[in-house]
Amino acid sequence: DGGSALCVCKVEGVDLAWPGFGVPRGAISHPRQEEAQAIDQELFTEYKFSVDQLMELAGLSCATAIAKAYPPSSFTTSQPAVLVVCGPGNNGGDGLVCARHLKMFGYQPTVYYPKRPSKSLFEGLTTQCKKMDIPFLPEFPAEAAFIDELYGLVVDAIFGFSFKGAVREPFGSILSTLERVTVPIASIDIPSGWDVEKGKADGLQPDMLISLTAPKKAAMHFTGRYHFLGGRFVPPMLQEKYALNLPAYPGTDCVLQLT
Ligand SMILES: NC(=O)c1ccc[n+]([C@@H]2O[C@H](COP(=O)([O-])OP(=O)(O)OC[C@H]3O[C@@H](n4cnc5c(N)ncnc54)[C@H](OP(=O)(O)O)[C@@H]3O)[C@@H](O)[C@H]2O)c1
Repeated sequence: DGGSALCVCKVEGVDLAWPGFGVPRGAISHPRQEEAQAIDQELFTEYKFSVDQLMELAGLSCATAIAKAYPPSSFTTSQPAVLVVCGPGNNGGDGLVCARHLKMFGYQPTVYYPKRPSKSLFEGLTTQCKKMDIPFLPEFPAEAAFIDELYGLVVDAIFGFSFKGAVREPFGSILSTLERVTVPIASIDIPSGWDVEKGKADGLQPDMLISLTAPKKAAMHFTGRYHFLGGRFVPPMLQEKYALNLPAYPGTDCVLQLT
């Protein structure tokens, strides 16, 4: 089709290392942390998007990618129960939007949201989830085994591309529990606790990564089964300015499977 023809033209002479999905390694740029933040800022300041607009599209991409990789029929729990763990920034907001769409798609999401910013955007997203009968856990399960027993999937929406330094509580304890769960983990944009450029070899190793806008440098260290690209909202001029070289999304899809 037109999309894959475009990919093939662009990559003549470079490493074709992602067979099966028509997306060659080396073709997509992997922005560094500062570039990712600059693209984000430009979307708001120059292109006049609002945060909630992009968050809605990002969160919808995440729910869509999850539904493709883990359809409800693949769950071994009695219901397609998903634990969505949300952090204090926009990555956590993506998680709340994702939880709402997962519920619409027939999943049973539960949210854990320990540090809630007092901003109307996040308060609104929280209310929307509650009014969709999505429960919010008052405490994080103390044992990884409880998570394995109750949920078939964990969505990691704790930190995205603004994460820096050593993890502060309560997220350190949460991440050490998540490192011990055996059910698959789907990380939004960056596996939480990872350096945005260097990754973290002894950190969380998610089964799925949903890169938003463009895969960040850390995505080069992802070894899980499913890597999707979402956030199909970057105007061509901005893609060109940052030489993102994004592959063509299929048809009208809001996600693209990279591996
Ligand atoms: N335009 C786009 O491309 C786009 C569009 C839609 C959504 N998004 C999403 O937005 C995300 C970025 O959002 P964001 O800039 O708000 O950042 P974020 O990565 O979601 O996290 C920022 C928050 O994390 C906390 N934090 C950072 N380092 C920490 C540490 N070491 N220990 C504990 N807490 C730490 C900060 O806390 P303090 O306040 O305490 O420092 C801050 O509240 C992206 O990754 C993506 O998921 C992006």
